[in-house]
Amino acid sequence: MSVNAAHLRSCLAQFATGVCVITTEALDVAMTVNSFAALSLEPPLVLWSIRKSSSRLQAYLDASHFAVNILSRGQMDLASRFARSGAQERFEGVLRREAPSGAIILDGTCGWFDCRCAEVRDGGDHYILIGEVKAYEKREAVPLLFAQGRYAVPEDIVPLVKGGGQTLPNVAVEKPVLLLDLLHRASQTLSSEFEVYRRMESVDIFESRILGDLSRNVPSCIVDIAQRAFISIHEARTAASALISRGYLFKEADERLSLTHTGRKKWQLILEHATDFHTRKTVGISMTDLSTVRRVLFSLAGATVNNASGGDSIIADPMGSVVK
Ligand SMILES: Cc1cc2nc3c(=O)[nH]c(=O)nc-3n(C[C@H](O)[C@H](O)[C@H](O)COP(=O)(O)O)c2cc1C
Repeated sequence: MSVNAAHLRSCLAQFATGVCVITTEALDVAMTVNSFAALSLEPPLVLWSIRKSSSRLQAYLDASHFAVNILSRGQMDLASRFARSGAQERFEGVLRREAPSGAIILDGTCGWFDCRCAEVRDGGDHYILIGEVKAYEKREAVPLLFAQGRYAVPEDIVPLVKGGGQTLPNVAVEKPVLLLDLLHRASQTLSSEFEVYRRMESVDIFESRILGDLSRNVPSCIVDIAQRAFISIHEARTAASALISRGYLFKEADERLSLTHTGRKKWQLILEHATDFHTRKTVGISMTDLSTVRRVLFSLAGATVNNASGGDSIIADPMGSVVK
């Protein structure tokens, strides 16, 4: 049977996992992974796998130890930060300390394992790294999940009881009341769901926002781009350098940035995904409801609906910016 990699990946994505950041003692090596798994209790072994084409492969193969940091529900930003390509890791502003081996331990996680890299095995287009657990800590926090290509948080953790039954969830699900809260949740959910497409195009959220911004604007300086794309100047600078090194952006003599031909093509691909995504997400919503939602959102965003047909030619893209 011939296997289509994209279909296989989407079926594998049905399997919900936690999210970890694997660190070493080096400040320029850290990676978000969901391939982490428990392997053995005696001896205490865990494993995770790394793509052979990863820019960070050699650093992990060279390290004698690594630490597995299990992210908690509020750490989606760290998951995105450490899923970005490139050698430059961004530990700035991240509270951390050292495990006994010297590997970096992140604050605010559900727990961590400090491991000696015991074995590296071949696994197709990945290597499997097996770690012997030398130290670990369990912390009281709710885990961040990853399933169907997006981040999620458990609605409730149902404790198992002996005999195979379950106890009932005892935490009431909080109902959002404020419109702002609903908008925030909707935007976060859509952006997380769209992550799978960004990954397909090997760009992260900040890079995607910059590509989108420059596709709609004249060459601009990084400060203006950061402001329009709702990202910090530091995030914009890091993302812009990564885009320049991959040939998507060009820096003019006066430091302003513009899209290269390749960058424009990359944005077109992202836009095609965004259009499909938009269609899929709005299936089953009536035209009347959709146009009401749009009218309300445009009014809240302070934007205008400006084409002659009365419909709008502007769609809000799932990256959080506005696409004409
Ligand atoms: C939720 C999530 C899980 C991931 N899991 C893995 C993984 O298990 N192994 C891996 O090699 N990359 C994984 N990645 C991709 C890396 O975090 C990173 O984005 C990618 O390796 C970047 O390219 P580079 O390694 O060439 O710098 C994952 C990314 C995300 C967002």
